[in-house]
Amino acid sequence: MKNLVVLISGQGRNLQALIEHCAAGTIPARIAAVVSNRADAYGLERARRAGIPTEVVPHGDYPSREAFDAALAAAIDRHAPDLLAMAGFMRILTPGFTRHYLGRALNIHPSLLPRHPGLRTHAAALAAGDAEHGASVHFVTEALDGGPLVLQGAFKLRPEDDAATLAERVMTEVELKIYPQALAWLARGDLSLRADGAWLHGRPLTTPATLDALEAAFR
Ligand code: GAR
Repeated sequence: MKNLVVLISGQGRNLQALIEHCAAGTIPARIAAVVSNRADAYGLERARRAGIPTEVVPHGDYPSREAFDAALAAAIDRHAPDLLAMAGFMRILTPGFTRHYLGRALNIHPSLLPRHPGLRTHAAALAAGDAEHGASVHFVTEALDGGPLVLQGAFKLRPEDDAATLAERVMTEVELKIYPQALAWLARGDLSLRADGAWLHGRPLTTPATLDALEAAFR
């Protein structure tokens, strides 16, 4: 059984899905710890309720990103992670940190990368007049929101969508489905990071896998 450590900063709805999938065995891993940079993150409460150890590493306590990342890595490594999942973790990570977890760490981002990296992605999709929006799972590398893409899910914008409805649609229509799937692949060894990018089921992912294709396979 693989050890998974989950990093959060807030609500923890993605974390909740991971807790449930690990408990059900659909992700073959145990969540060894949940680590937050904020003591008031509601996701910590979800972890405690599930009996999962928690750690808080407040970023404000450290004089530099390097010092914070060193403390964060120490907290994570106490739990001997095979896998690391950033689930709404809102800190930019240093190259040393990302190198330490290279190939073991995934992030979920609320846009169809490479469109709209960074913050306020829903407003950005609206401002750009995008016809589609969604979310992406990618390997964590030095490039902010720029590591090799693994799995994306997209939906068409509706005329009445605003930033709030888009945030909700991204979460319920896409993120809660694609993140457990990507982590299940990584935990099973079906997904890996190689020198030329992400590989899934023994083949290079020249384009990311899509939620549409996965759902079509089960129709
Ligand atoms: C999710 O939409 C996630 O994609 C996003 O924050 C939300 C966290 O929600 N992550 C980022 O913006 C990372 N830069 P949650 O805490 O309820 O899972």
